[in-house]
Amino acid sequence: MQSLITCSLILALILPCFGSNDASYNVMDFGAVGDGKTDDSQAFLKAWQGTCGAQGTPTLQIPSNYEFLLSALVLKGPCNATTILIKLEGKIVAPTKDSWAGNNKRSLISIINVKQLTLDGSGGFIDGCGSSWWPCKTCSRPSMLTFQYCNDLSVHDFTITNSPKSHIHVHYCEGVTFSRINVTAPGDSPNTDGIDVTYSKNVLIQDSTIQSGDDCIAISGGSSVVNVTGIACGPGHGISIGSLGKRNATVEGIYIRNCTLTKTKYGARIKTFPVGNGCAKQITFEEITLDQTRYPIFIDKHYGSYSLTNGEVEVSGVTFRGFQGTSFDGRAITLDCGQLGCYDIVLDQIDIVSSLPAKPACCSCKNAHGTVTSTVPNCSCLMP
Ligand SMILES: *[C@@H]1O[C@H](CO)[C@@H](O)[C@H](O)[C@H]1NC(C)=O
Ligand SMILES: *[C@@H]1O[C@H](CO)[C@@H](O)[C@H](O)[C@H]1NC(C)=O
Ligand SMILES: *[C@@H]1O[C@H](CO)[C@@H](O)[C@H](O)[C@H]1NC(C)=O
Ligand SMILES: *[C@@H]1O[C@H](CO)[C@@H](O)[C@H](O)[C@H]1NC(C)=O
Ligand SMILES: *[C@@H]1O[C@H](CO)[C@@H](O)[C@H](O)[C@H]1NC(C)=O
Ligand SMILES: *[C@@H]1O[C@H](CO)[C@@H](O)[C@H](O)[C@H]1NC(C)=O
Repeated sequence: MQSLITCSLILALILPCFGSNDASYNVMDFGAVGDGKTDDSQAFLKAWQGTCGAQGTPTLQIPSNYEFLLSALVLKGPCNATTILIKLEGKIVAPTKDSWAGNNKRSLISIINVKQLTLDGSGGFIDGCGSSWWPCKTCSRPSMLTFQYCNDLSVHDFTITNSPKSHIHVHYCEGVTFSRINVTAPGDSPNTDGIDVTYSKNVLIQDSTIQSGDDCIAISGGSSVVNVTGIACGPGHGISIGSLGKRNATVEGIYIRNCTLTKTKYGARIKTFPVGNGCAKQITFEEITLDQTRYPIFIDKHYGSYSLTNGEVEVSGVTFRGFQGTSFDGRAITLDCGQLGCYDIVLDQIDIVSSLPAKPACCSCKNAHGTVTSTVPNCSCLMP
């Protein structure tokens, strides 16, 4: 009896230390080397298992002054922890194409089914070493950071460069905030989207700088209530809804505001394949500043290389308001709405001029319906 009480007492004293609310799991304590050459994936995995298994609010530490080589790391929940913080202060590097081991080429880091996660990347960053992959157009190339089924996710102060494919992918997540994200990849790097959002809801992406070879942000199939604000995009392909059509998916309730597009190929774009179905509705682009964008406002129902058309995505309730600046060669507004047309398109307070005096700004429409007010070029081709 006495010993039982003593035992209980000792346990009562020790347990809180292990289960303590601020337990910290440093990858260095789990065997990470951090020399940029040794694969530290196993150490990260072990540190993750500690973090995920802990009660309360543990932290996974990735310390500064080290370079961690990883390969196809999957951090899985569900976790015991109520909230988890990942503090990324060091540098993470991806293997080059020839040293990428195994067949999992989906993503360098996948975080799956972890609720209430915060990734604080101040000081740290991920280098995708994409230049070894880009020349191979037919290779299946990995993304860098994928979040899947992560509800209540916050990612902030985070730099990521040179992904072989898209940099960040948010898939089936609800309640997501990205703030102060810095994505950098060359303007001619293939498919290097900044942030891709699919099948996700209640997403806010704010105050970020994205330079890439493809879409700065792409919001596609199955996503709703997505806000994007304070984004400096360029080079890149602008901020896109889509591509849509391959699945019967809806995108709705998208609000993109206060963004700057510098020397991008596209600006505010909706792209749908001329096949399949689904719909895009309740989409607003507002307060957009343009500098030499090739296609500042673009609805493209003929996206992709299809010789036949088969089905068509519905597009309606799209507002473009408060656009200012230059189009590269005059193609200011292009509304290619296919056979089905698009409806309730609003063009308001738009002032786009051409950066080439010989090619004045123009607007072209195919089957586009809606209203136009205070818009230059005047876009008289928009039908009621
Ligand atoms: C959660 O805690 C229980 C009890 O300590 C443990 O058995 C389990 O492995 C933990 N779960 C995870 C995901 O680590
Ligand atoms: C973004 O990251 C690059 C390095 O990858 C750096 O040169 C640049 O200053 C960063 N920009 C911002 C706005 O933090
Ligand atoms: C998105 O913006 C709208 C309109 O300003 C606001 O009502 C809503 O709460 C915002 N949602 C998110 C997830 O930020
Ligand atoms: C627009 O975005 C910039 C860049 O993030 C920010 O500094 C500014 O406060 C924003 N303005 C408004 C009106 O939201
Ligand atoms: C597409 O989805 C909508 C909404 O879920 C449904 O009403 C419609 O029948 C579906 N169409 C096809 C062709 O699957
Ligand atoms: C719209 O612009 C075109 C081309 O500049 C011009 O021919 C046409 O008269 C304008 N229409 C209106 C209603 O201002």
